Amino acid sequence: MSAPVPARATLSVQGLGKRYGATPVFADVSLEVAPGEFVAIVGESGVGKSTLLNCLAGLDQGDEGRVVLCGHDLGAASDEQRALIRRAHVGFVFQAFHVLPHLDVAQNVGLPLLLLGRQDTGERVAAMLEAVGLQGLGQRLPQQLSGGQLQRVAIARALVHRPALLLADEPTGNLDPGTAARVMDVLLAQTRDHDASLVLVTHSEAAAARADRVLHLTSLGFRPPA
Ligand SMILES: Nc1ncnc2c1ncn2[C@@H]1O[C@H](COP(=O)(O)OP(=O)(O)OP(=O)(O)O)[C@@H](O)[C@H]1O
Ligand SMILES: [Mg+2]
Repeated sequence: MSAPVPARATLSVQGLGKRYGATPVFADVSLEVAPGEFVAIVGESGVGKSTLLNCLAGLDQGDEGRVVLCGHDLGAASDEQRALIRRAHVGFVFQAFHVLPHLDVAQNVGLPLLLLGRQDTGERVAAMLEAVGLQGLGQRLPQQLSGGQLQRVAIARALVHRPALLLADEPTGNLDPGTAARVMDVLLAQTRDHDASLVLVTHSEAAAARADRVLHLTSLGFRPPA
């Protein structure tokens, strides 16, 4: 029988393993993330960091083990239930932004609220645009923004519905050090503001240095601390 999940964990992962066909990506990944905690995940390219984040969000499924998000066992949920759990509790900043090109900036940021059927979207979207330093740019299309601005749109969209868990995949990967530091400031301020948990995949030592914990992913799970 699997171990009981601590009641207050935002995220609990036990013995998660993932394969593509016969090729293993990782095995035996276990992790607990408390409300308000910031965990950085580091590891070599190709070790499975993005795959792991997708499993944590219920966008992908492991071949063994368990992921419990805000008390919901993702493996026991239907596809539809997983989508609803994700919509309510998760914000995701993708490695490649995934901003919708035909929606303007404000529409991109407001999308999670729209999907949740919230009415009060205008004020909240304006507050988020201001929080990430994009006030006045709500009517622009994504193609009219710089890479750093696009990344901030993705962050505003991931946080607009105040999710309990924010998953961010190399959100500062393509940015100069100054912009990267400011993007990290926004991520941390916004998650601390409502006690959200942050799981951040990064190659940046500067970003990892700001985490409460840094975990090294290997094909055999997280490397034990030295
Ligand atoms: N759909 C797929 N089919 C088969 N193999 C895949 C598939 N997607 C990813 N992989 C493989 O799984 C491994 C993990 O990929 P993943 O994208 O999770 O790595 P990563 O740690 O995020 O790398 P990076 O730091 O470069 O972003 C890689 O070896 C990749 O080639
Ligand atoms: Mg990746």
